[in-house]
Amino acid sequence: MRVGVLASGRGSNLQALIDAGGNANFPAEVVLVLSDKKNAYALERASMAGIRARHLAPKEEGFYRKVGDEIENHGIELVCCAGFMRILPPEFVSRFSGRIINIHPSLLPSFPGLHAQKKALDAGVRVTGCTVHFVDEGVDTGPIILQAAVPILPRDDEGTLSERILAYEHRIYPLAVRLIAEGNVRCIDGIVQFSENAFPGHKGFISPVSE
Ligand code: GAR
Repeated sequence: MRVGVLASGRGSNLQALIDAGGNANFPAEVVLVLSDKKNAYALERASMAGIRARHLAPKEEGFYRKVGDEIENHGIELVCCAGFMRILPPEFVSRFSGRIINIHPSLLPSFPGLHAQKKALDAGVRVTGCTVHFVDEGVDTGPIILQAAVPILPRDDEGTLSERILAYEHRIYPLAVRLIAEGNVRCIDGIVQFSENAFPGHKGFISPVSE
């Protein structure tokens, strides 16, 4: 499956997807990276990996049309937002309906928007995490594909918590792409369903104390 990535910043999730694609068994490959920020490190990561990388200026007329045209011209089958800090307009979302996914550093629907990790700390929750979801017209809404739960530890600050969550982002984003590329993900009435036996069962855990 040909994957295009939209990124605005350091691109560590992009890197996780590039690295996953380096495994011969992985059924998807990043072939295009687009950024709204000229100096995004994500663009450098793409160039270093030999992937087409392009900056498009968001202030220019027809920004989302150009992004969409790049995606279509490169035969992209799945668009991954990886730290793309813009809200996609409805016409873009409907142009690639069901083919855009996003990663967010909270257990959605809790703490959408910016500074999700700080919002979780401020709310005093004991467990937060990250979510991969299909993109719809809302902000960090849309059918949830995968989530990883991450405990908030007593001495966490925004930095330590963000780092712990990020390590799980790098695990669930490639996994979500794999499940989609293998045809194991369907969306029925706004709820994601997996093929039978896609996952073994898991135990729960207690935060901040776990077995
Ligand atoms: C990640 O933590 C990602 O979940 C978040 O931005 C960071 C990008 O890091 N995205 C959002 O908050 C989207 N609402 P990266 O550039 O190193 O992948």
